Amino acid sequence: MAAPIENIVIAGAGQAGGRAAEALRARGFQGAITVLGEEAHPPYERPQLSKAMLHSPDASVTYIKQARDWSDVLNVRLETGAAVIDGDADRRTVTTADGRCFIFDRLLIATGTRPRKLAALEGSGIEIQYLRNVEDALRFRRSVQHRSRIVIVGGGVIGLEAACAAARNGCRVTVIENETRLLARAFPPLVSDLVAAKHRSHGVAFVFGATVTGATLAGVQLSNGETIEADLVLVGIGVEPVPTVAERLGLPSQGGIAVDACGRTEASDVFCAGDAALQWSRCHGRAIRVETWANAQNQAISVATNMIGETKAYNDPPWFWTDQYDLNIQVAGDMLDSDHIVRGDERSGKFSVIAMRGSDVVGALSVNVAKEMAMLRRVIAANARPSRADLESPAYDLRAALK
Ligand code: NAI
Repeated sequence: MAAPIENIVIAGAGQAGGRAAEALRARGFQGAITVLGEEAHPPYERPQLSKAMLHSPDASVTYIKQARDWSDVLNVRLETGAAVIDGDADRRTVTTADGRCFIFDRLLIATGTRPRKLAALEGSGIEIQYLRNVEDALRFRRSVQHRSRIVIVGGGVIGLEAACAAARNGCRVTVIENETRLLARAFPPLVSDLVAAKHRSHGVAFVFGATVTGATLAGVQLSNGETIEADLVLVGIGVEPVPTVAERLGLPSQGGIAVDACGRTEASDVFCAGDAALQWSRCHGRAIRVETWANAQNQAISVATNMIGETKAYNDPPWFWTDQYDLNIQVAGDMLDSDHIVRGDERSGKFSVIAMRGSDVVGALSVNVAKEMAMLRRVIAANARPSRADLESPAYDLRAALK
């Protein structure tokens, strides 16, 4: 008979760690749950850090639960300011930076990712900011209120949502993107161009095909020889998994922590969920890390269920959204290396782009048609195969594809 599960430790108190703890109790787990988080805060929602928090001086942090409810309502021991830095697979323990040791029967690694640093700027004297946690968001919000000259390195979601907030506050904003277009990792060229045009109409300037090679107190130097005056540089050039306890436990963690469909790592009592988990994606046809709010939440809930003995594969297609000015853009699945079908009139500012590989719908992007995206996500998740002709016709009711 399998040994009873008495102690579950969750390393990481972000969206994934918090939702996993909740899910364990919701599924009836009665043993001890300990959540260890590096940040000073209880688990909170990150999407608004680059959205509402930057736009509204009144916006405050959205916590998943109030601090005391973790103990009083859920009977979860939440330790903030407790970074997990070590682990021992044989003794089944993890250790925090302050030297405390925690025993587990099951461990969930939910330590997420951290911003990639731009080495060329270090030590240059110019103010450098990143945008990942509450303190970062509050700092950037203060900066944009001073109508600064801001250089943003990286034309991805963080860079562009930050650019939007800065431009709206009257800052002079230049975005430096080393690809030839914006959001190339997730968007088709048509939508990259639309987003660039929207930003330009709000005064944002772009430099493509270049990066920052150095800086002085007065501004930055670019790889194309240009210099740009700036008071501060915000860097949003992607994230990387936090070098975690996984390595210390002897688990392969190159490019993410490999897990099966249930979130289990190579060690049968160690699981991983959220940004750090490297899991097979049907849409992509390979294992990927999914760096989104929805994944951190839903994958974690699913993995928690598996940790206490149920077997439930997680295969939600990746999904995220970004809000910039009056654009709400949502992306599901994989938009790269595929044929694209435009559904609706792009000139109307409300349309979708559907990604097909053969007869498979592998991705979709919606511009200001959130309702349609809700259906497209279901089509992708169900692996439904409507014809291209049907998908091209806005009159075609996507519900028919699900029957
Ligand atoms: P990202 O990967 O979305 O974008 C990084 C951008 O920087 C890319 O366009 C890349 O080509 C560019 N880049 C990389 N190195 C560069 C360099 N040296 N010089 C100039 N450009 C360079 O990552 P980002 O924007 O930093 O976002 C971080 C994480 O936060 C991502 O995982 C993202 O998915 C997540 N996030 C999710 C949101 C959402 O779900 N709506 C909102 C904001 C962030």
